Amino acid sequence: MPALAIDIGTYTIKAIQADGGKKPRIRRVIEVFNSTGLAVPTDDAVQEKLKSILKAVIENNKFTIDDVRLALPETVVSTKVIEVLPLTDAELASAIGWQAERHIPIPPEELSLEYQVLYRPGKDEKTPMKVLLVGVRKSIIERYVGMFHQIGVEPTVVETQILSVIRALQIGAEDPPTLSVHFGASSIIMAIVDHQQLKFVVNQMMGSQILTKTLEKTVNIDASQAEQYKRAYGLDPAQFEGKIKAALLPQINELVAQIKKAVQFYGSQVTQNVVKRIVLSGGACQLPGFVQYVTEQLSMEVLVSSPFSATEGTVPENINHPGMTVCVGLLMRES
Ligand SMILES: Nc1ncnc2c1ncn2[C@@H]1O[C@H](COP(=O)(O)OP(=O)(O)OP(=O)(O)O)[C@@H](O)[C@H]1O
Ligand SMILES: [Mg+2]
Repeated sequence: MPALAIDIGTYTIKAIQADGGKKPRIRRVIEVFNSTGLAVPTDDAVQEKLKSILKAVIENNKFTIDDVRLALPETVVSTKVIEVLPLTDAELASAIGWQAERHIPIPPEELSLEYQVLYRPGKDEKTPMKVLLVGVRKSIIERYVGMFHQIGVEPTVVETQILSVIRALQIGAEDPPTLSVHFGASSIIMAIVDHQQLKFVVNQMMGSQILTKTLEKTVNIDASQAEQYKRAYGLDPAQFEGKIKAALLPQINELVAQIKKAVQFYGSQVTQNVVKRIVLSGGACQLPGFVQYVTEQLSMEVLVSSPFSATEGTVPENINHPGMTVCVGLLMRES
């Protein structure tokens, strides 16, 4: 039974139908513009609009909807890696609500909480246990999943985006401590993975749309031109007398500063293990010259996610590969 992964981004909605598993077999890849500009419905009007886009995507592509997998945007999720004294599953289950109250800024009666043990120390180890808390407001998740119910979809998976991203990156046990930077239209999610463990997640409301807005203002062009210039010239100093690069640079430098902060934060927490490489994903990391600029500024290895390298089947041309990272990660999830 094929799975259908849907990633509702504020810029585009992505959907991939594939046979799910470690090595998904791709059947169809779709990307459509999100005219609402919102990743989660905020009111009935937005919900209706998103619903009709989703319905059209499913119908027009004759997608099978028995196994629909969704990723919630990090902007509505509160993700936290906490350390606790080693507990049994039962002990943890009864202590988790109290832990969530301390770490998740959502009132208990409104909180929908999921958690996952990331690390459990051995019997004689004197290290704490690490637990991932993922909290969402009930009203948000109800509206989100409700929207899918209304078009006849009962989702099998609803997880937070960063988990999908990290799964798609397939960071192995031999890989150095890695900072994953998922650069979308409205936000940037950063996570550190060390020895295959998620160590830290942070979300910044700063995405590629800001770059387009900046170009509109400083170069005095309209939104669609700005989008074109951004994609065509990016940080290339040889283009347009370097004017586009100059206009984009303040925002890009702010972003680079956030990346540096994440790297330094982790370095200050764990002295032996420092971040050795960065993996970029999200459609926005395709900005010309971006990879090179981040490499220069951070002086470390910078890679770009290529989610389809681990899949079978044909991928259409003209697809923004790093932009499909969330969907592929959802498809790689094994039940
Ligand atoms: N070739 C390119 N060069 C520069 N920017 C690009 C390129 N292709 C896409 N983008 C930008 O990337 C963004 C889209 O990326 P992505 O599809 O990851 O966003 P999204 O998932 O819709 O947004 P979000 O997850 O933040 O809600 C847009 O802002 C778009 O302008
Ligand atoms: Mg996105």
